[in-house]
Amino acid sequence: MDLRSRNGGSSRLRPRTVLLALAAGAALLAPTALVVPAANAAATTLGAAAAQSGRYFGAATSSFMFSNSQHTTILNREFNSIVAENEMKWDATEPQQNVFNFTGADRLVAHARANGMSVRGHALVWHAQQPGWAQNLSGTALRNAMINHINRVAGHFRGQIHSWDVVNEAFADGGGGGRRDSNLQRTGNDWIEVAFRTARTADPNAKLCYNDYNTDGINAKSTGIYNMVRDFKARGVPIDCVGFQSHLGTTLSSDYQANLQRFADLGVDVQITELDVAQGSSQASIYERVTRACLAVARCNGITVWGVRDNDSWRRGENPLLFDANGNKKAAYNSVLNALNSVSGPTNPPPTTTPPPPGGAGCSASVSLNTWNGGFVATVRVTAGNAAIRGWTVRITLPGGTAVTGTWNAQAGGSTGTVNFGNVSYNGQVGAGGSTEFGFQGTGAAPSGTPTCTAT
Ligand code: G3I
Repeated sequence: MDLRSRNGGSSRLRPRTVLLALAAGAALLAPTALVVPAANAAATTLGAAAAQSGRYFGAATSSFMFSNSQHTTILNREFNSIVAENEMKWDATEPQQNVFNFTGADRLVAHARANGMSVRGHALVWHAQQPGWAQNLSGTALRNAMINHINRVAGHFRGQIHSWDVVNEAFADGGGGGRRDSNLQRTGNDWIEVAFRTARTADPNAKLCYNDYNTDGINAKSTGIYNMVRDFKARGVPIDCVGFQSHLGTTLSSDYQANLQRFADLGVDVQITELDVAQGSSQASIYERVTRACLAVARCNGITVWGVRDNDSWRRGENPLLFDANGNKKAAYNSVLNALNSVSGPTNPPPTTTPPPPGGAGCSASVSLNTWNGGFVATVRVTAGNAAIRGWTVRITLPGGTAVTGTWNAQAGGSTGTVNFGNVSYNGQVGAGGSTEFGFQGTGAAPSGTPTCTAT
């Protein structure tokens, strides 16, 4: 149902303690993989219960809620994943073009790190909650702004996000199964794949998800998305997961699980990303069925509820969450916990990528490109040799007619011809075998030669 049309472990096993001891950046990517309680130890929190099968159980929250002790006590006790309800969206992170504000989102990520939680990123690109300046853009200007936004935001949180909702809600409701009209869609039908390719280079370790609502069964909209994912997989567009928001009413489609499974069978993970269920006699049983559906699909990584207490919910007056306004556990909570405790066996190992160090001292550089007709984004990886370096310069020769229009995490000494990109203050020092990245965006043909790297 389209809700927007109506308004818009056991305490013996302390997973969070274990995680705190291990937390160090990459641990945020998949902490649940580190925490597998012994079989038959019924967990007493949602996060610990989900971790028994290698899954996460998360909640949407906002950094301003951390001062609410009841909210935060429940959040820290029950959940091992969080997502920003609003603070990672385009309007929050880039209020003016190329001026970024990560204040709230950074607090959220720091809270996750301090409490051994993983982070879902929501959402890099969406037709809604765009800042005013983006709403007023179109065509190439909007496309370039989108690419820059993804590079900067996913780059800022690089290595700290378990899964990114790269594109949110791009399909239309109704029977057609086609794309939603939007300023982004009007930049060209390839905007979604450009977003995914850009996100992959900006944060290679994050799972990249497409996220939508009214996809709670096999219907025209979910089939439209299914066809897109199948096409992306066939053409090598980097997509790792599909998010099913699951803003549910008083009934649940009988093919909810089958729908998850058909996506998983395409070779992507699936995640329940914004679960909330209308109050009423069916609330607890729908929560249970959704939980059991995720548990029954091996590639279902985890479940996120869209808020902690009923009074935190965007669905005012509908009491759709697992805790009431006094912070008490509801019947729906118990049905979810019992369902999670009924299954064990870890799945979903964390992604790992470790670039091999080049031989010798000095540095090397490699470029990966996202290109489209008339422009490109280059992501350049600078890797130190077998000795630490204190600074670097990468020299790249651009084809005639090509111009650099924006650079991040480096300083460009020019915009055409042969351009030297030097480190900035925070990324010049690279340990032996370590690497760092910068990027630039340009108009015209992409560079094709081999970059040279000089350690300084
Ligand atoms: O922060 C401002 C405040 O300063 C201002 O006074 C007030 C006046 O309206 O607005 C406040 O911002 C609101 C924001 O929530 C924070 O409360 C926005 O107006 C309001 O539009 C925004 O609503 C969010 C909505 O997305 C925006 O579309 C909801 O909190 C959030 O739960 C909801 O989440 C979406 C997911 O991102 C995508 N899937 C559907 C889901 C539910 O709509």
